[in-house]
Amino acid sequence: MNILVTGGAGFIGTHVVNMLLEDGHKVSVIDNMVHGNGSNLPKNVPLYKMDIVDSSIEDAFKIEKPEIVIHNAAQISVAHSVKDPIYDAKVNVLGSVNILEMCKKYGVKKVIYPASAAIFGEPKYLPIDEKHPLDMISQYGITKHTVEHYLSVYKELYGINYTVLRYSNVYGPGQDSSGEGGVVSIFAEKLLKGESLCIYGNGEQVRDFVYVKDVAKANLYALNSLHNEIYNVCTNTRITINHLAELMCSVQGEKVDIIHIGERAGDIFESYMSYDKINSACGWKPEYDLKSGIEETMRSFN
Ligand SMILES: NC(=O)c1ccc[n+]([C@@H]2O[C@H](COP(=O)([O-])OP(=O)(O)OC[C@H]3O[C@@H](n4cnc5c(N)ncnc54)[C@H](O)[C@@H]3O)[C@@H](O)[C@H]2O)c1
Repeated sequence: MNILVTGGAGFIGTHVVNMLLEDGHKVSVIDNMVHGNGSNLPKNVPLYKMDIVDSSIEDAFKIEKPEIVIHNAAQISVAHSVKDPIYDAKVNVLGSVNILEMCKKYGVKKVIYPASAAIFGEPKYLPIDEKHPLDMISQYGITKHTVEHYLSVYKELYGINYTVLRYSNVYGPGQDSSGEGGVVSIFAEKLLKGESLCIYGNGEQVRDFVYVKDVAKANLYALNSLHNEIYNVCTNTRITINHLAELMCSVQGEKVDIIHIGERAGDIFESYMSYDKINSACGWKPEYDLKSGIEETMRSFN
């Protein structure tokens, strides 16, 4: 298939691009490189250095004529969305509408869209499934979720299929240590320097860490199935930040101090998600447990 990946030079995007190539697809990328550095992108992948908000993206659609768009490009920081909600809305909402308009104009058959667990707020029940009520507590949550509505409207009005993949905390090689869910890469960098690890609060906060290659695999499934539905992509596994820190120290064979500092305002205490729906639909399930994912991640940092 002929697939255009926006944000394809970023952390998740690069893994998706590489897996698509291994699977025999033709791939091109739009990325303005605010985060991505493109160094992990194979040289034969056309890279359009463009902003998704800009009308110039039409050139990429005109030249590449993609059948499928995987729309990864986004402003990804919750904190930045609070600080600069106008920029967040411009990129995540207007940029996405710009992409969808191009999909309409150039006959794209399907859009695959990564959504976020940032739309649930403090969970009402666990594990979070796709029917869990929404309670957005940041501008990022609002803008990521808004695009889910646009996708459904573009399906109704223009017949463009979509799949929404709602990721939990994605980790793995190539992650920026300042990104959303970047705690694994922050700890990895500290461990390599033999520096102490800093944990907010008592460290008993629970998260659901999903390995980036499992996430990329879910995108592969969505090429031919999972049409016009929302699916969680996660592990349904409770991991505390204390456990993560201990595991990473033991994998690296490094004993560093673990320092607990004040709680972060607005931090959700416990969050993990169910993947039953995507598993029933296509058989996807995480292939990496936390230890094997962390081992691979640490090898990439070393
Ligand atoms: N990392 C996670 O845990 C996580 C969880 C849920 C959802 N997501 C979503 O997955 C997607 C990818 O996230 P990531 O972690 O790989 O982040 P990332 O920052 O590494 O990747 C995003 C890419 O988009 C590009 N980009 C940003 N703004 C752009 C613009 N205006 N025009 C063109 N390109 C632009 C960046 O340069 C970067 O390469 C995002 O949509 C994010 O919201 C990520």
